[in-house]
Amino acid sequence: MSRLAVNVDHIATVRQARLAAEPDPVTAAALAELAGCHGIIVHLREDRRHIQERDVEILRKTVKTRLNLEMAAIPEIVKIALNIKPDMACLVPEKRRELTTEGGLDAAGQKKSLKQTVAGLQKRGIAVSLFIDPDARQIAAAQEIGADFIEIHTGIYCNAKTPKAQDREFDRIIAAVAMAENMGLGINAGHGLDYTNISRLVSIPEIDEFSIGHSIIARAVLVGMERAVRDMLALIQRGPV
Ligand code: PXP
Repeated sequence: MSRLAVNVDHIATVRQARLAAEPDPVTAAALAELAGCHGIIVHLREDRRHIQERDVEILRKTVKTRLNLEMAAIPEIVKIALNIKPDMACLVPEKRRELTTEGGLDAAGQKKSLKQTVAGLQKRGIAVSLFIDPDARQIAAAQEIGADFIEIHTGIYCNAKTPKAQDREFDRIIAAVAMAENMGLGINAGHGLDYTNISRLVSIPEIDEFSIGHSIIARAVLVGMERAVRDMLALIQRGPV
C-alpha cells in the first residue's frame, strides 16, 4: 500500500502572514504523525516565504517518521541540506514569482549539474528524488543522473478539465510508473492531489508515497474551525478569572 507524506508548508504560510510564532509547522507535523502519516515534507524556498531554516532544524530533531526536504538545486539550499541531513531531498524547479511549484524539473536539460548535486547529497546519506513530469525523457535522465526516486508531477492530472483529459494524463502516469519501475527507481507522486482525485491513483501500487499538502491543510482549517470558535466563545462566556 502506498504511504502518505504530509507537506506542512501552508501552516508556515499562515504564520508568516503575521510574522508570528503560531501556527507552528513543527506542531502540525507532530499532529500529522500522531494521525498516522508516514512522512513530513517541507519546502525551504530561496525567498523563505513560508518554511524557515529554524523549522527544518527543529523538524530534523522531532520528526519520528521521515523528513523530506523539497528544495531547489542551488548552492545556498544544498549547503543547508547537507548540514541538516533530511532523510530525503526532493529537487524541484523554483521560480521566485510562482505561487507554487510549476511543472517538473528539466532533468534532461541539466544532467551534468544535477549529477553533481545528487552525488553530493547521497554522499551525506540523503536519498534524492527528482520532481519530474511523467515523461520518458525525464525519467531516463533521472536514472542517468543517479537519483534514488522520482516524484511524478501529478498537477496536470489533477487540473484536467474534462474526463478525457484526465484519462490521457492518467495513462501518462501509468506509463511513467512502468518505465521508472523497470529502471529500478523509487516512485513518489504529488502536486494537486485532493480528497477526490486521489482515488484513481491509489490503484497504482508501485507508487511508494503520495506527497500532499494544500488539500490536507485546507481541510484541517475548515474541520478545526468550529472547535476553535467554540473554545474562544467558552473563554468569553466564562468571564474574568
Ligand atoms: N510535490 C512537490 C514537488 C511540491 O512542490 C508540492 C507543493 O509544495 C507538493 C508535492 C504538494 O502539492 P500540494 O500542496 O498541491 O498537495
